Amino acid sequence: MVEFRAPVGTRDVLPPESARWERLIALFAGTVERAGYGLVLSPMFEDVGVFERVGEGTDVVRKEMYDFEDKGGRRVALRPEGTASVVRAYVQHRPTPPFKAWYAAPNFRYERPQAGRFRQHHQLGVEALGTDDADLDVEVVALAWSVCAALGLARVTLLLNSLGDEVCRPPYLDALREFLTVQELCDEHAGTYEKNPLRVLDCKRDICRAATDDAPRLVDLLCEPCAAHFARVQAGLDSLGVAYALQPRLVRGLDYYTRTTFELAAEALDSAQNAVGGGGRYDKLAEALGGPATPGIGFGMGIERLMLACDAEGVFPAPASTVDVWVVDATGGSAALALTHELRAAGVSADRSFDGRSMKSQFKSADRSGARLALVVGDNEVAAATVTVRDLRAGDQGTVARADVVEHVRNKLQ
Ligand code: HAM
Repeated sequence: MVEFRAPVGTRDVLPPESARWERLIALFAGTVERAGYGLVLSPMFEDVGVFERVGEGTDVVRKEMYDFEDKGGRRVALRPEGTASVVRAYVQHRPTPPFKAWYAAPNFRYERPQAGRFRQHHQLGVEALGTDDADLDVEVVALAWSVCAALGLARVTLLLNSLGDEVCRPPYLDALREFLTVQELCDEHAGTYEKNPLRVLDCKRDICRAATDDAPRLVDLLCEPCAAHFARVQAGLDSLGVAYALQPRLVRGLDYYTRTTFELAAEALDSAQNAVGGGGRYDKLAEALGGPATPGIGFGMGIERLMLACDAEGVFPAPASTVDVWVVDATGGSAALALTHELRAAGVSADRSFDGRSMKSQFKSADRSGARLALVVGDNEVAAATVTVRDLRAGDQGTVARADVVEHVRNKLQ
């Protein structure tokens, strides 16, 4: 019985699973950096006001935030999501727009843990600030989509909606409130629909779903500029061959969204946690954080959820081996010490056994490591200044001069 475990809702990610994370992050970085996005590192905690400003009406901020007073009496919160931090950094540093940023970072939400829902989860995301050109919406949505495609995920649906702006949303909310007044809603939303009627559309309970079947749809009531913007986004996605499904119920769980919103839903996952990513425009957020009026759009993808979806579809497996070469040393260890050092310096991944293990045990470790080659040094090899090179997959072996072995291995692995 261990005394301490990772806190409820958190996980340790160990090899080989962690190698898969590394590959995913590298794949993501490659995809978005090719589109001009640069890495942004921002603090894991912020003044609590940064998050309160962006989501006072949401569970993420009202109920789930890890906020506390630090030793200096400041009220801070662990980041529940990445967008507010990046926009706060933008407002503080005022980089030249368009500002295109990406991140890979942990987020903290005090949620009820379950499969695919953690108290510390990790997001890969982008934020692009400084233009409301609909082409940028298309770029951002297409990037999220191409990450899924590059992972090999085939059963992911892109859901698309528009949440309008400060012109068309308020009258829509009034119409929705009026519609909901005569409907029977779940206990939670019966009490809160007047304040935040959009949340009812997002409710997964049968009673709210039935009640909203015929609810007015914001996409039907968009003002002319929002409708034109949304039409351009759809035409752009069509032109790139990015398939999407219009989802008028898609309201997202954060308050700051305007116009384009989207989610990537993995069919292979349980429906309550099937969003592997989501995002949208937030054209008023920079102002809300005290900056100049600056439109923006971005998305976040949950690393844990992407991995679950990959498992469910049997794609993007963890890499099989950690090193290419295993040095087996029957002379006490000094040959392995020198050889692994030289191999690594030459750019070859190599490992060895310790503690003067038997040859049998060293070969077992070599097999378990997934290495392709074993380099064997025994008394005969030392006397002849050679190394035996055994191909662990093909099963054959040969002898190479000690002085040439590093070069020989390098060539063999190419
Ligand atoms: P979000 O929808 O709250 O949006 O989270 C984005 C993604 O993070 C989700 O689609 C899901 O894959 C993952 N995720 C969220 N919460 C959890 C959790 N408790 N456990 C595991 N995975 C989770 C945002 O956070 C926005 N900042 C996205 C964005 C960026 N919008 C504009 N720019």
